[in-house]
Amino acid sequence: MEIEKIGVIGAGQMGNGIAHVMALAGYDVLLTDVSQDALDAAIALIDRNLTRQVSRDKISQTDKDATMARIKTTLTLTDLGASDLIIEAATERETVKQAIFEDLQPHLQPHTILTSNTSSISITRLASRTDRPEKFMGFHFMNPVPVMQLVELIRGIATDEETFKACKTVVDNLGKTAASAEDFPAFIVNRILMPMINEAVYTLYEGVGNVRSIDESMKLGANHPMGPLELADFIGLDTCLAIMNVLHDGLADTKYRPCPLLTKYVEAGWLGRKTDRGFYDYRGETPIPSR
Ligand SMILES: NC(=O)c1ccc[n+]([C@@H]2O[C@H](COP(=O)([O-])OP(=O)(O)OC[C@H]3O[C@@H](n4cnc5c(N)ncnc54)[C@H](O)[C@@H]3O)[C@@H](O)[C@H]2O)c1
Repeated sequence: MEIEKIGVIGAGQMGNGIAHVMALAGYDVLLTDVSQDALDAAIALIDRNLTRQVSRDKISQTDKDATMARIKTTLTLTDLGASDLIIEAATERETVKQAIFEDLQPHLQPHTILTSNTSSISITRLASRTDRPEKFMGFHFMNPVPVMQLVELIRGIATDEETFKACKTVVDNLGKTAASAEDFPAFIVNRILMPMINEAVYTLYEGVGNVRSIDESMKLGANHPMGPLELADFIGLDTCLAIMNVLHDGLADTKYRPCPLLTKYVEAGWLGRKTDRGFYDYRGETPIPSR
């Protein structure tokens, strides 16, 4: 099946990046959000990010202009009904996502493929609430979307081969690499990454190391480009905690219990870079450990 028109739902951190890479690859993109401010901010950010790519000679000015021209926005979700492929990247709440798919359903074309960028919600469960579980799958980008090479493609229990192949072709056209994952809590990347971050927080909690020694150890000792606590701040500590809870609940294994210190940071509103404080304090010129 030929995919030309792509609908993106949610113009936040992930949605704007998805619109950016899709339009750059030549797809017509219709981006929607419940907030006009979010749409305006997304377009401004895509413009800035493309300008940076032009200044680094990654793309030409003509590429940038053509990319911007391929992105349209709307506040009306049902305008996305004409899309060949829809990527939902709205807030990580199951009720929000279910309502979106329910509202869209009567307006879709029979061939439209529905996907979700969810980090943790069951694809099979989301799919089962639609009229097309065989045309539903997980399309999980990494953050920041224009930079990160991987896309996890997650089949729900009913996803058919044609749907998988159509999504895989889109990932290939983006110049990215697809990893196929089965629909179990947190899929592949977060299933492995989050317990490591959680263990780093336990290492801090138990006083085995401090913030700096833990991050330095993993950078110099395991060749990681960022330390686990620095990375947790980048992802958002609330997101890390939410994913640990999904692993703990979904796999019913105590090895996934979230570290109480992670919970405490989230309760304090120390969520990482987005709130200027997490394991590090970002309010000064250079980040320093917050405690
Ligand atoms: N942030 C990450 O690192 C990351 C990585 C991979 C996947 N994800 C997933 O991507 C999705 C979006 O995450 P994000 O970080 O971009 O969140 P975000 O909070 O930055 O953006 C979410 C956007 O969705 C919009 N929204 C809420 N309800 C909506 C509705 N009913 N219709 C349309 N838009 C609606 C909000 O206004 C907001 O602009 C989540 O499912 C998340 O799990 C996030």
